Amino acid sequence: MAYKSVKGTKDLLPQDTVAWQHVERVIREVMDLYRYAEIRTPMFEETAVFARGIGEETDVVGKEMYTFTDKGGSSLTLRPEMTASVIRSFIQHSMGEQTSLNKLYYIGPMFRQERPQAGRFRQFHQYGFESIGQQGPECDAEIIAIAAAIYDRLGISYSLKLNSVGDPTCRPRYREALQEFLRGVFDQLSPESQRRTETNPMRVLDSKDERDREATAGAPLIVDYLSEESRVHFERTRALLDALGIAYELDPRLVRGLDYYTMTAFEFVSTDLGSQDALGGGGRYDGLVEQLGGKYTPAVGFAAGIERLLMVMEKNGYEFPVSTPTVYIVGMDDASRSWAFQTAIALRRKGIAAEIDYAGRSLKAQMREANKLSCPYVAIVGESELEAGQAQVKDMRKGTQESVEFTRLADYFIQDIAN
Ligand code: HAM
Repeated sequence: MAYKSVKGTKDLLPQDTVAWQHVERVIREVMDLYRYAEIRTPMFEETAVFARGIGEETDVVGKEMYTFTDKGGSSLTLRPEMTASVIRSFIQHSMGEQTSLNKLYYIGPMFRQERPQAGRFRQFHQYGFESIGQQGPECDAEIIAIAAAIYDRLGISYSLKLNSVGDPTCRPRYREALQEFLRGVFDQLSPESQRRTETNPMRVLDSKDERDREATAGAPLIVDYLSEESRVHFERTRALLDALGIAYELDPRLVRGLDYYTMTAFEFVSTDLGSQDALGGGGRYDGLVEQLGGKYTPAVGFAAGIERLLMVMEKNGYEFPVSTPTVYIVGMDDASRSWAFQTAIALRRKGIAAEIDYAGRSLKAQMREANKLSCPYVAIVGESELEAGQAQVKDMRKGTQESVEFTRLADYFIQDIAN
């Protein structure tokens, strides 16, 4: 019986990881520029961290979590996202007491038991960043600017949808108004939205079902219900984005699928993706730290799927940098092969990427391999070279060849790397 990876999961093979490493490198570079520090939390948490943090009525908690009871009888859950984990860690380590603003980022696998389709997996990978401690709109604008900077560096075009989902002073009033409206069009709603009318009415506005879209065309919108504080915060966030030249579309129906959001909510979408068009999303979540048992601490953040990002890059024919060895060392007989092996290790110890043949192949086959790998240099050694203590070094780009003494080989390549 041949085993296969579990439905909705994928092996990332060497030909795939080149692209992954490139993307991760760019993310880390941008995070360094904006002075965000990496945080790594465990892959699983007590179930309550997510249930309380994300909200019992959300799809993620209600339908998609990988929850299991361990042998000690604890209910644990593989993280479906990382904001709740980060905040759990923030509280546990009293990070808020050490500095007034914690800027954190992460890259790693997340788990959701969704129906797999293009761009939707059960184990997928996110990168994300969270700015924890301040409520100023500069933090919201900065988070959006970082998301945009990463997409820009990777040559990805996107559109940005922006909304404010209000705060605890204005949302209950809006929720009531919306619920009243939805009850009036109840019969025209999809069964899912009928259920949500009572449990999570704001998500009805977000429904992709045509019936819901039509029925809710005239629904009240949160923008008309915002508290003074939320309205001003939204205006200032928008003014900062305008000043930064970051274009956005106002989308008064944008709600996001997690319950912790307050005020700013946003999503980056791409037309190069199919029905799962969300590249990434985020927003402000001023209530989450308290919700998870900490002291009131405002925060805002963003997370994005790496698989979706790569889908767009591949579709656009993005050329990922490939790593090539500096030199391929060709040995022709037993003695020179043994020399090639030892020299490759000696060069690698000095920081020079070297490759050799391990399969006892002919000179011609080794040259073919060096070409395939696009090595800029090939060093050839046979009986007479061993005797003379010199290798024949071919410059594959110039098509020239010269003798280089064994003792000078490392310096020869180091110099080339430096130039
Ligand atoms: P989210 O919208 O649930 O937000 O997920 C963010 C991104 O993760 C999505 O836009 C999508 O690109 C990717 N993603 C989600 N589910 C899947 C899946 N099954 N397969 C592939 N990709 C997927 C969050 O997770 C929040 N924690 C974002 C955040 C951070 N808000 C504040 N801070």
